[in-house]
Amino acid sequence: MKNNPLIPYVLIMVFGIGLIFFMSFEGAADKNSADGEGSGATAEISGEEVAQKNCISCHGGDLQGQGPAPAIAGLDAAHIQEVALNGQGAMPVILKTEAEAQAVAEYISGL
Ligand code: HEC
Repeated sequence: MKNNPLIPYVLIMVFGIGLIFFMSFEGAADKNSADGEGSGATAEISGEEVAQKNCISCHGGDLQGQGPAPAIAGLDAAHIQEVALNGQGAMPVILKTEAEAQAVAEYISGL
């Protein structure tokens, strides 16, 4: 019986599909490990970063006060957290999440 001339092409096709199939598993495994690292990084909130982004514009670069905004460095953490979440007098509500407020309060009260 004569060999079918299509056989080499069929073999290459099967090999290629198999390769794609196994490479997709490798990609999926990479994605899973990247997701794990990503969520770990976002769970860890930097109080310093939150302060740089949300507080220094009014309270000054060293949080020692500036214009109408008083010095807040070294204040009681519970008070800082409460004011950041609820505002006080001329200061508007700044932060929406308790986690951010807690991180920034710990950082500022430790200055
Ligand atoms: C829009 C300007 C502005 C921003 C931004 C701002 N503050 Fe204030 N903050 C003020 C002003 C003005 C006061 C004075 C409020 C008052 O008592 O009348 C104040 C007061 C405070 C007080 C009370 C101080 C005291 O002696 O009772 C704390 C604590 C405080 N801010 C923390 C923060 C933190 C933490 C952030 C960042 C998350 C922040 N503030 C961002 C303007 C600001």
